[in-house]
Amino acid sequence: MAYRWTNTLKDRDVTDENLWLNRRQLIAGAGAGLGLAAMGRPVQAMELEPNSWEDITNYNNYYEFGTGKEDPAANAHTLVTSPWTVKIDGLVDNPGDYALEDILSKMTIEERLYRFRCVEAWSMVVPWNGFELADLLEMAGVQSTAKYVAFETANRPDEMPGVRYPTLDWPYVEGLRLDEAMHPLTIMATGIYGKDIPNQNGAPMRLVVPWKYGFKSIKSIVRITLTEDEPPTSWNKANAREYGFYSNVNPEVSHPRWSQASERVIGSGLFAKRQDTLMLNGYADEVASLYEGMDLTKFY
Ligand code: MTE
Repeated sequence: MAYRWTNTLKDRDVTDENLWLNRRQLIAGAGAGLGLAAMGRPVQAMELEPNSWEDITNYNNYYEFGTGKEDPAANAHTLVTSPWTVKIDGLVDNPGDYALEDILSKMTIEERLYRFRCVEAWSMVVPWNGFELADLLEMAGVQSTAKYVAFETANRPDEMPGVRYPTLDWPYVEGLRLDEAMHPLTIMATGIYGKDIPNQNGAPMRLVVPWKYGFKSIKSIVRITLTEDEPPTSWNKANAREYGFYSNVNPEVSHPRWSQASERVIGSGLFAKRQDTLMLNGYADEVASLYEGMDLTKFY
């Protein structure tokens, strides 16, 4: 690649693993309207019980395993993540079914630090392991007519109880514009905190686009298709008014039901502090040029 992104976040910026493990309690506590005095107390004083690795990530969105925040943790163990095959097709020179093992043997896996946030107005910094999506796309040989990348999650009724119900139009799909997909900040994550990604967080491979809202982070990807036309995305299909194709973090464009101007930071000492949400989640220097000349209130 012409240039690789250099991380400016340091180890000390990373959200403590136990806080990440306990985000359900943190968020529940914040939502329960703890008194101001309690909110200002250091996190240690909140008497959090650290969870075991087995029952971490008990606060997830992964509708294939149920719509409740705790459903994925309860149900995702049934997903068979090995062996795993990813179909790469559409406008590529080398279409085919790629075994994930073979992909991983060719990729440079780097442990990176990405700010991670979901649309629910909290933020934290989580260290992902993964590789640049651009490297995978280059391996597949993107053709010059390709303009978008479409992603698809596994759709396995036997392993995913949620897909037996029409909560979303299955399979779950997402998309990026090709230049977004080729940006060195866009990664395929295979690990988190130095361990394999837990099933409920999207094992064995999920997308992470740090300047976009969490719902762009499509999990357990089985298919990547290069297209000429903008591909459909699950949340846009479900509710186009609330979720656009771009889904960039943008404090200037409010979600129809809530403001996105500030966010709650989860982390030692900073717990419950609100901070102004940064344009493109703080990655404007790196990615704002992708959107030059676009009306971001229209392309939200
Ligand atoms: N991917 C699939 N396949 N199915 C989903 O329901 N939910 C999305 C996204 N990826 C989802 C998905 C949403 S709404 C969010 S906020 C993030 O995953 C949550 O990722 P996390 O559970 O690892 O925090």
